[in-house]
Amino acid sequence: MWAGRHVVLGVSGGIACYKSCFLARRLTEAGARVDVVLTQAAAEFVRPLTFEALTGRPVARSLWEAGGALAHIRLAHEADLIIVAPATAHLVARVAQGLADDILTAVLLARRAPLLIAPAMNDEMYARPETEANLARLRAAGVAQVGPEAGALAEGPSERPGRMSEPATILAHAARLLARGGPLDGRRVVVTAGPTREPLDPVRVITNRSSGRMGFDVAAAAWERGAEVVLIAGPTSLEPPAGPSIRRVDTTAQMEAAVREELPSADLLVMAAAPADYRSVEVASRKRARGEGSLSLTLEPTADILASTRGSRKPGAVIVGFALETGDAVARGRGKLERKDLDLIVINDATEPGAGFEVATNRVTILDREGGERVLPLMDKRAVADAILDLAAARCV
Ligand code: CTP
Repeated sequence: MWAGRHVVLGVSGGIACYKSCFLARRLTEAGARVDVVLTQAAAEFVRPLTFEALTGRPVARSLWEAGGALAHIRLAHEADLIIVAPATAHLVARVAQGLADDILTAVLLARRAPLLIAPAMNDEMYARPETEANLARLRAAGVAQVGPEAGALAEGPSERPGRMSEPATILAHAARLLARGGPLDGRRVVVTAGPTREPLDPVRVITNRSSGRMGFDVAAAAWERGAEVVLIAGPTSLEPPAGPSIRRVDTTAQMEAAVREELPSADLLVMAAAPADYRSVEVASRKRARGEGSLSLTLEPTADILASTRGSRKPGAVIVGFALETGDAVARGRGKLERKDLDLIVINDATEPGAGFEVATNRVTILDREGGERVLPLMDKRAVADAILDLAAARCV
């Protein structure tokens, strides 16, 4: 998504500048060409050399340096996207007034590309009607805004917004801005993730090793492609991605109910969860003591959520399932695709190193309804998520 993209990263002078270094680094690592433009105050916080080393490109800091007078027009016109992080109260005020008294504001006034700003300031400054009006004016002019968030400020903890969003959040918003007009822009995507757990008594449960990573990465990637994403998540300790709305569930029956509610409006369902397949016929109302001796359980199968959606899918909805197998994976996956009436099934073999649960990578084969089979190499789960969405998006017509 970032490869070959030209991003101008404007940095104004606030302590959150240090986070902009991570932003520059992550954009560069992702393949973007990053040109950093600093205000004079920003250069007091972080030396230009730091950004030059991180991006491998010269940093613009003045209209009056060699090439500066035309550099702002070149940067403004060549950029695919402009991000200003941090955007201080003063910078926001200058941009809202249409001032162009330094190289960053000149680039912004001459811009053709979409602009994302990440305000960062003292909470009192952010709460002032002047700042509010300036930001409202920029939003009305089509400028996208991420944050600020409540949390620690340089001057101490705060319950009120002021703190700049984290680089990962800014990146997600930036990607979404670039994805405007793409195939998933404005689509409703429902993703399930994680295990579910079935109670035996108030303390004990039956569950499985699913971490939720795959589904969380699919949800994050779909949101970055412009979709409205609902992430239905079983119990997992993962940090939720920025953007998708999350519904937390515990048991397979709860996950089924949530899917049923969300399904009628879904253009794409990605069923990456590993719902518990069995539940105990009896659930004790008190914790059973170990001293009571051996315990026999009778388990019954839970509902097959994917199969149960067959009658209530939106016409044309794209349905993606997963299959984690321990042998004969392709044949078993093909059987599940047909039985559950899927467009795509993502299969992996849990016995292969680097694939399956509790690892950051996956090695998958994706089968489609028409009989196609794509064998993907070992990739991290986010790259697998993107590969799945490339195929799914091509079907969302
Ligand atoms: N799935 C589901 N409901 C369940 C179990 C699984 O919707 N109760 C979904 C999974 O999210 C996945 C797909 O079905 O997308 C295949 O899951 P898997 O556990 O491999 O399939 P099962 O139908 O449980 O097949 P089996 O246990 O026979 O291997």
